[in-house]
Amino acid sequence: MATRVPFVSSTTLFPNQCHKYCYVAKSLPLPVSSPSLRLSSSSSLISLATLRNYKGLKRVGIRTSLVVAMAAENSKSSVLVTGAGGRTGQIVYQKLKERPNQYAARGFVRTEESKQKIGDADDVFIGDIRDTESLIPAIQGIDALIILTSAVPLMKPGFDPTQGKRPEFYFDEGAYPEQVDWIGQKNQIDAAKAAGVKQIVLIGSMGGTDLNHPLNSLGNGNILVWKRKAEQYLADSGIPYTIIRAGGLQDKEGGIRELIIGKDDELLQTETRTITRSDVAEVCIQALNFEEAQFKAFDLASKPEGVGSPTKDFKALFSQIITRF
Ligand SMILES: NC(=O)c1ccc[n+]([C@@H]2O[C@H](COP(=O)([O-])OP(=O)(O)OC[C@H]3O[C@@H](n4cnc5c(N)ncnc54)[C@H](OP(=O)(O)O)[C@@H]3O)[C@@H](O)[C@H]2O)c1
Repeated sequence: MATRVPFVSSTTLFPNQCHKYCYVAKSLPLPVSSPSLRLSSSSSLISLATLRNYKGLKRVGIRTSLVVAMAAENSKSSVLVTGAGGRTGQIVYQKLKERPNQYAARGFVRTEESKQKIGDADDVFIGDIRDTESLIPAIQGIDALIILTSAVPLMKPGFDPTQGKRPEFYFDEGAYPEQVDWIGQKNQIDAAKAAGVKQIVLIGSMGGTDLNHPLNSLGNGNILVWKRKAEQYLADSGIPYTIIRAGGLQDKEGGIRELIIGKDDELLQTETRTITRSDVAEVCIQALNFEEAQFKAFDLASKPEGVGSPTKDFKALFSQIITRF
């Protein structure tokens, strides 16, 4: 669970408030959902549902509740997930949508088909990270960016698993890791910086310390080299960042394993070097809630199910990280 700052004076939220509810706004303490207290830079309309959901509605009256609901709406963090049609990206997008009191979710996908796959909502933008112009409308007005885009290796046709050989992979022309994992991520970081985005979470991969890692020879793409270059660019950008270098991703249930923080690929020498996509997705979101996750880069894996205790305290998890890159 996110740590909560119990109360913040509403004058902090509405410093120039001169509305007739001014008196109430000044006197009422407001709950704030995130310690980093990011006011959404996008203007928000208060829905009736939000008002109804606000617990104090009956007790403090409609005027007060309106002010409180406005504050709650404005204290939401607006978060864009790129690669939202991907296997981890769609989990992150879904998890954000399931927490509407905390986050206003946006997605960025490549195709209409991907947009439909994740629910076809108006908050899903279509574009290509290699084309900066197409990123701008999606990034405008967000508080935080979660980057889950990645070059996708394709298997060469004709692979026959019965022959005991390894499959061969290739990348489409123009969609090599250099173009997607380096230029594409750089475009996102530049656009986010220009738009005043307050935090970027970037998903990388373990293995980046080893130039001879087998993933680099996949399709002659040097994927870990280009990912690492983008990570360095982000770390040098001045924007608060969290770089998560995940171990081998698994499509299994999340939230039931103990997560392990590592550094410099040391976990690759152990048996603990995989993690579920769902757990990675949760860590991406939790990283938005704790300053202990900011300006940090770390390896992430999990113990096998049933070993240790499932991670619930993310503040404690992020506090273990000692590496900035
Ligand atoms: N697989 C592993 O075991 C492993 C291990 C460690 C780390 N990682 C990293 O973890 C991250 C998530 O992995 P994943 O397997 O969940 O990802 P994934 O399913 O391969 O998704 C990648 C996403 O990037 C999008 N994308 C690619 N090129 C794009 C472009 N030019 N413009 C916009 N979007 C583009 C793809 O869009 P489409 O949906 O249109 O294709 C896709 O949604 C990746 O960075 C991956 O490298 C993976």
